[in-house]
Amino acid sequence: MRKMLVAGNWKMHGSRVVAHALVHEIARSVRERTEAGALACEEVVLCPPFTHLAELAAQFSGSGLAFGAQDVSEHVASGAYTGEISGAMLGDVGAAWVIVGHSERRQYHHESDELVARKFAAALQAGLTPIVCVGETKEEHEAGRTEKVIARQLGAVIEHNGIEAFRTAVIAYEPVWAIGTGLTATPDKAQKIHAFIRSQLGKKDANISLLTRVLYGGSVKPANAAELFAQPDVDGGLIGGAALLATDFLDICAAARR
Ligand code: PGA
Repeated sequence: MRKMLVAGNWKMHGSRVVAHALVHEIARSVRERTEAGALACEEVVLCPPFTHLAELAAQFSGSGLAFGAQDVSEHVASGAYTGEISGAMLGDVGAAWVIVGHSERRQYHHESDELVARKFAAALQAGLTPIVCVGETKEEHEAGRTEKVIARQLGAVIEHNGIEAFRTAVIAYEPVWAIGTGLTATPDKAQKIHAFIRSQLGKKDANISLLTRVLYGGSVKPANAAELFAQPDVDGGLIGGAALLATDFLDICAAARR
């Protein structure tokens, strides 16, 4: 059985003080809720901005929380890549996870499917678990092109890395029209796309398609989390806005049960 996973993507929010207070509160609640048997989610990952990662990962090691980055360089070896952060550097400061191909990276930084595939490879090479995001825009959604877009995005990662790479990777389905908008895919619709994602993996390897976790992201809130997570092919969530509020985030984690 796949373990449920909830990851918080803080995006570009929070000072060091705010970040510390938030993780402190999340860690405290995780401990309390775990002791009370009320934390359903088996794995909780926090993805703060790069600048907070080292400090938080050191301060909260052993808290039951894991840490991840929001992006990684495609370059593996050190070198003249101003502004870039390598997977090895992330691992060095305590990150175990990294989000690649988030729609905001694709949109604002023009990351292509091929670049995302190379970042996925760089993450794996550094020993990090990539959470690769796929999802269609509003226009693509309205034009009925959702599956086509996802097949293309996922196909590029599979082609570059091979299907075996998915043994240590997670996929997040994040419809772009649902991110930060308050709109959410209905549980039925999310299930349909998650099953489609699994079928794409299954074309290459049936076993991997059953093992790979597929998270849903896009305006997940405490009020809609349980219904989304109850879908058979939804293995947890990638949470943006609601990850900035400890109680909301923890309530979402509590909803992530099998
Ligand atoms: P949201 O963001 O939960 O604020 O919609 C999700 C994400 O972008 O990962």
